[in-house]
Amino acid sequence: MKITVIYGNMRHGSTWHCTQEILQQLMHLDVVEVTEFSLPRDLPQFCNGCFCCIYKGEETCPHRSYTRPIEEALIAADLIILASPVYGLDVSGAMKTLIDHLCFQWMSHRPHPAMFKKIGLTVTTSAGAGLGHTTKTLKNSLVFWGVQNVVTFKYPVSAMKWDDVSAKNQAKIRRRARTLASRIARVAKAPRRLRNPLFRSFFFSLMRGMQQKNDWNPLDRAHWEKLGWLSGHKPF
Ligand SMILES: Cc1cc2nc3c(=O)[nH]c(=O)nc-3n(C[C@H](O)[C@H](O)[C@H](O)COP(=O)(O)O)c2cc1C
Repeated sequence: MKITVIYGNMRHGSTWHCTQEILQQLMHLDVVEVTEFSLPRDLPQFCNGCFCCIYKGEETCPHRSYTRPIEEALIAADLIILASPVYGLDVSGAMKTLIDHLCFQWMSHRPHPAMFKKIGLTVTTSAGAGLGHTTKTLKNSLVFWGVQNVVTFKYPVSAMKWDDVSAKNQAKIRRRARTLASRIARVAKAPRRLRNPLFRSFFFSLMRGMQQKNDWNPLDRAHWEKLGWLSGHKPF
């Protein structure tokens, strides 16, 4: 299984440890190849909002040297992990920067056909509050990129750093990571058994209708046309 992990912070803190625990468990169950990116190191620029990616293509993004390796690793992965601590009841600013840079691949623009077969995992930790909202922010990106199956891991560690996470909580995290890893490994081995998420089918149809009338962004429309999605073909 190919796994791409994007960490929304640079610390080897609670979020990193939870993610590592899941990865270790997956390694017991499958042969895995892991590619990791840490933010902001691997994407140190904010999105300018220049619309280049949307109107002229992602290759024209002024930060393409950073976004290309990330995007390629996402396309190559079977499992995409987005991991972020809770900052101010939401994802870290560095993670939000990544999300902004990849909006061109939302279903409302140019979703990559490979996305529709992937598993996504969100990992988030907080001192106590904001896990639901943060998970939703991460999940939104995966869902709107078209990812087939999204699972979540969230834990209120009641600590500022991993060393201060109680032994009881660390044991609980290990147990939850084990259960989640078995679920992911099961799904990865039998992807055909997964049902198409209802929301994705609905949203894809809605976007197809929109692209059929699209006279505002020829690039998006050409993408849908080229893939046969405007003439009835579906990527899932
Ligand atoms: C800038 C900042 C903002 C934070 N905001 C919240 C918050 O809104 N709610 C919360 O419960 N914890 C908050 N925390 C605590 C972290 O979410 C928590 O300690 C998390 O486990 C840290 O993850 P890490 O060890 O991977 O860095 C914040 C921490 C920082 C540094």
